[in-house]
Amino acid sequence: MALPRPSSTTTAIVTGASSGLGIHFATELASLGHHVTIVARREAPMVALADAIARSGAPAPVLIVVADLSTKSGRELLWKKVAESGRTPSVLINNAGFSTTGPASRAEVEREVALVRTNVEAVVALSTKVLSFMVEAGAGAILNVASTAAFQPLPGQGAYGASKAFVLSYTHALAAEVAGSNITVTALCPGPVETGFAEAAGFSEEAVNVLPKIMWVRADKVARAGLEGLGQGTSVVIPGLVNKVAAKFSRHAPPAFLAKVLAKRHPQL
Ligand SMILES: NC(=O)c1ccc[n+]([C@@H]2O[C@H](COP(=O)([O-])OP(=O)(O)OC[C@H]3O[C@@H](n4cnc5c(N)ncnc54)[C@H](OP(=O)(O)O)[C@@H]3O)[C@@H](O)[C@H]2O)c1
Repeated sequence: MALPRPSSTTTAIVTGASSGLGIHFATELASLGHHVTIVARREAPMVALADAIARSGAPAPVLIVVADLSTKSGRELLWKKVAESGRTPSVLINNAGFSTTGPASRAEVEREVALVRTNVEAVVALSTKVLSFMVEAGAGAILNVASTAAFQPLPGQGAYGASKAFVLSYTHALAAEVAGSNITVTALCPGPVETGFAEAAGFSEEAVNVLPKIMWVRADKVARAGLEGLGQGTSVVIPGLVNKVAAKFSRHAPPAFLAKVLAKRHPQL
């Protein structure tokens, strides 16, 4: 099992490529020779990324799609632009996502719903669409970025943890459906990574520092580990030894017990 070979008729789609992990996924895929399509709502950082990739000697210009993937119209725009490019998706990195933080009782309803639309609905919509292309082509690779938050309930980020548990379960199901074919589906479950994530979620600097340094893995390493796992057909990739051990524990401990412990420790509760 390996990543599909780059070709002049295919593209690797990376969602959430205006910041953080998405930049590393796009850069790494381009360095492997893939044509890359990058998607997010902020255009300027994607233009800078496309320029950097072009300067690194990529054979074809990056396709930039400015779209809100939590909306049907945003996703339709992506498919329109990809179709116009004359390429079909051979790789999909479902990376766009965000968290809210704080007690549900004080959350903004629309922000919670937007989280579910971005972290869950868009992942299902994009995966479903690309799988039809991949099955027809007889090859493909989908990397869904979940989180170690997928392994237990997460009071203080309840909707986020549940969204990532969905992504993990969904990824296992898709991987089993395509087993034995030349298509691979992997869940990447990082622990804490220094990106724009904490700021977007509204974490204070103090709250971020509560997480032990030993859990943090660099964004470039996380992205590379995800792509390596995808190429090897690994079902779940958890970067960092401490995160792997913690995930193992979380998978086997009673959820109600873990939720109580985590509720006491969450810095924004
Ligand atoms: N950093 C961590 O500690 C950590 C840990 C575990 C898992 N993760 C997961 O890793 C993934 C990447 O996050 P990151 O850490 O790289 O955070 P980040 O720097 O905040 O990047 C998030 C990306 O998602 C995009 N995005 C958000 N909502 C979108 C929407 N509606 N439509 C299109 N794009 C959207 C953002 O772009 P625009 O704002 O320009 O739209 C941005 O490019 C997420 O799924 C996150 O849950 C992160």
